[in-house]
Amino acid sequence: MKIIIKNSFKPEGHDAVIIPVFQGTPLPAIWQEFPELEFLSRGKRIKGKTGEAEVCHSLQQQRLLMLVGAGRIGSLSDARKLACKTMALLRESRVSKALFYFIQPGPYPHDYLVNLIDYLHLNHYRFDRYKRKKSKAVSRIQLAFKKPAALSVNDLRTREIIEHQVTLARDLVNETPAKITPDSLVQLFSASAKKYHLQLTICRKKELEELGLNGLLAVGASSCCSPALLTLSHVPKKFSRTIALVGKGITFDAGGLNLKSGIGMEEMKSDMAGAAAVLGVLITAAELDLPFKVIGFAALAENLPGRRAYKPGDIITFANKKTVEIVDTDAEGRLVLADALILAARCKPDMIIEISTLTGAIVSALGDSYAGMFSRNKKLSSALLQAAESSGELLWPLPLPAEYKESITSKIADLKNAKYSGASAIKAGLFLHEFTGTVPFAHLDIAGTAFLAKPNFCLNSEGATGFGVRLLVEFLKNLA
Ligand code: BES
Ligand code: MN
Ligand code: ZN
Repeated sequence: MKIIIKNSFKPEGHDAVIIPVFQGTPLPAIWQEFPELEFLSRGKRIKGKTGEAEVCHSLQQQRLLMLVGAGRIGSLSDARKLACKTMALLRESRVSKALFYFIQPGPYPHDYLVNLIDYLHLNHYRFDRYKRKKSKAVSRIQLAFKKPAALSVNDLRTREIIEHQVTLARDLVNETPAKITPDSLVQLFSASAKKYHLQLTICRKKELEELGLNGLLAVGASSCCSPALLTLSHVPKKFSRTIALVGKGITFDAGGLNLKSGIGMEEMKSDMAGAAAVLGVLITAAELDLPFKVIGFAALAENLPGRRAYKPGDIITFANKKTVEIVDTDAEGRLVLADALILAARCKPDMIIEISTLTGAIVSALGDSYAGMFSRNKKLSSALLQAAESSGELLWPLPLPAEYKESITSKIADLKNAKYSGASAIKAGLFLHEFTGTVPFAHLDIAGTAFLAKPNFCLNSEGATGFGVRLLVEFLKNLA
């Protein structure tokens, strides 16, 4: 879908005209420009709340006129809801080309417009490659304002680049676990490295053994696809800072020998959403040529039961010599991440941001619209929170109290991987913290936000969200 800005109102060539109605927009101002609307929508009253809508067919103009509740001008969350509702209406009405006509003079701030455009793109997305009958999609939206918009052609291009990578991440997460395996992701990372001039190192079984990356080796032991640790780097000509990103890439999480019950197991194809987001961010960093070194780590494995599966009772020694008792093979994420975090810390980056579908507990705590953020670094966490507010990929800070460390300690090893008795999202964060040394660190638990069971207030379709790509790109852009 193409989004353009052209401040002219010529309804020709558009199947529909969308007219956002803000709180306090006088309807007569709209009737002045669309006289037939006074007649068509006289009975109903639209007050300007988000979620409201009225669709009329103008015989005179031979097109649809859509009044859509838009909330407050300048509210980013209202911009997201407006875009969400609009795309749902356009799809329902099988509109191909639409004019988004802002009658209210504004001004519309830059970040308001960025959110509007991002969420038009996000709500345009459908994963329909397996549907023989696809629903008709919008092909073009023209935004028209009364005054020049606070958004350049270059801004639009940047949003398009980012949106492409969000789509890639969503497609990877939605794609079937038969197609997305450590092998296929190694191939995809290699192709991406070539295409976007990123550096890539691949560790498969042999290299993992040499490096002592025993978390990945244990978790991936029963899969026919050997686990992998990929390092994909964006290295600009000149840089002063290095940011490490780490993503969980469990391409299917059956739970291992502690097999998950049937309920929700089909969603466990989404357990590589962190790694998919890291790939999307790295490609974007290359395309926008961001001025720091960004190193992305993807810890890839498949967690299955089987003859060679790792077992409850096993003790794993990590590359930093710490030992971990396996209490539950379904707490596999922290094991593969521990390996990646050790490697990341060895690169001595200025910070590590790790992103993973780590715990069911975060879903209970925060639902599907906030990811949990765990960090002891004030500067890092406030910059992440700011990026969250402006991108709409929301974060909620949770503590990492040293006092809880006792719960992650094992009787026979240094640490244990499960049975933490309460606050298990927090304690999983504490576990990861054991592998990052002194590097400033933030852990983002996206188990609730990466994959939606049903649409939410700003995304109108279920499935993968690409959570993390826009958040982290925004974070990196703000660092510059
Ligand atoms: N991948 C899951 C976490 C998850 C849950 C992601 C729901 C997306 C939606 C993780 O590997 C897991 O199984 N966690 C367990 C750990 C427990 C056995 C200690 C959990 O949180 O229930
Ligand atoms: Mn698991
Ligand atoms: Zn998992």
